[in-house]
Amino acid sequence: MAPQDADEKSRCLLNSQAHIWSHIFSFINSMTLKCAIQLQIPDIINRHGAPMLLSELVDALPINKEKSHFIYRLMRILVHSGFFMKQSVSKTGGDDEEEGEGYVLTPSSRLLLDEEPLSMRPFLLSMLDPLLVDPWQHMSKWFQNDDINPFQTTHGRIIWDFAFQEPMLNQFLNEAMASDARLVADIILKHRGGVFEGLDSIVDVGGGTGTLAKSIAEAFPNVNCICFDLPHVVKGLDGSKNLSYVGGDMFEAIPKADAVLLKWILHDWNDEECVKILKRCKEAIPSKDNGGKLIIIDMVVLNDEAGNKTLETQLRCDMIMMTLATGRERSEKDWAKLFSDACFTDYKITPILGFRSVIEVYPVN
Ligand SMILES: C[S@@+](CC[C@H](N)C(=O)[O-])C[C@H]1O[C@@H](n2cnc3c(N)ncnc32)[C@H](O)[C@@H]1O
Repeated sequence: MAPQDADEKSRCLLNSQAHIWSHIFSFINSMTLKCAIQLQIPDIINRHGAPMLLSELVDALPINKEKSHFIYRLMRILVHSGFFMKQSVSKTGGDDEEEGEGYVLTPSSRLLLDEEPLSMRPFLLSMLDPLLVDPWQHMSKWFQNDDINPFQTTHGRIIWDFAFQEPMLNQFLNEAMASDARLVADIILKHRGGVFEGLDSIVDVGGGTGTLAKSIAEAFPNVNCICFDLPHVVKGLDGSKNLSYVGGDMFEAIPKADAVLLKWILHDWNDEECVKILKRCKEAIPSKDNGGKLIIIDMVVLNDEAGNKTLETQLRCDMIMMTLATGRERSEKDWAKLFSDACFTDYKITPILGFRSVIEVYPVN
């Protein structure tokens, strides 16, 4: 073999090794971040109010002090992945003078603070809980058995039944969803409040504990809002003047309103199940001329394009739907087919929510 060919072959081999290593070890990104959140590192740095030296951080952390020297390594990878930054510090106090670099937060770690109103902390902790991570170990087994999804292969039940029987799962799923709903409500009400204008009533189907419905009720005091979810999810929740909670099954019947809101619902279900839900939605709303519509908040998967980071996250979410639920993330073509199968005539996609879009869907007149 000519030397250039041997060089090229070695380069190719090492590139492939790097590609494989990157995939094998990508779970370390999630797990180191989870550890930092469990140790409350962003909150401790935030409370410090200035760049925090490693020695100060270590003193403040609730850890076995014999393990202090490991914190540097945890912080080093989290600085590398953009969750913290370093800034120079010069401190004088008594006889001590300490100089060096201190840790500060980045916009991403700010969004994980406990006290941040739009914190994604509950979402992170629930997605990385062993209950939701274990099913990934059983995916290949699931491909060979008759179970609905790897969650069932792992836990023997589907996720919604499990949540009904296990108050802890119910609570952390609800908290995770509520944290996402706060962020979505913030953006949608600032930038697309228009989607709710002209409505007298709206029902948030699968609305969880009502975070989004509550925000809409507050922003539009004349709109009557209903948060509709499974009975165990809405049990004991109190409404307000224009917000009420209704327990039920969206496959059976949905309370009537001008508009039906479906945030992160349809991606949980397969096409057949979605058509059933959409038909129940159609029965709940008036015709298009009388103001009836659906407001769907979900992903519209981009066209395939190697290296596109948004698409990569969308494809990961699609795998989450396969592993934990029976649904999938859909392209515009998939959505159009679903709407037409459920006898809706027209739709409009507004991509204002990062990975997700607002999809307004209209029934026949
Ligand atoms: C992924 S969560 C979305 C929650 C909320 N829409 C959000 O995005 O914050 C799905 C919701 O659907 C609810 N759900 C599941 N099956 C249901 C059913 N048959 N009828 C009504 N709600 C259901 C779950 O309890 C859960 O609150």
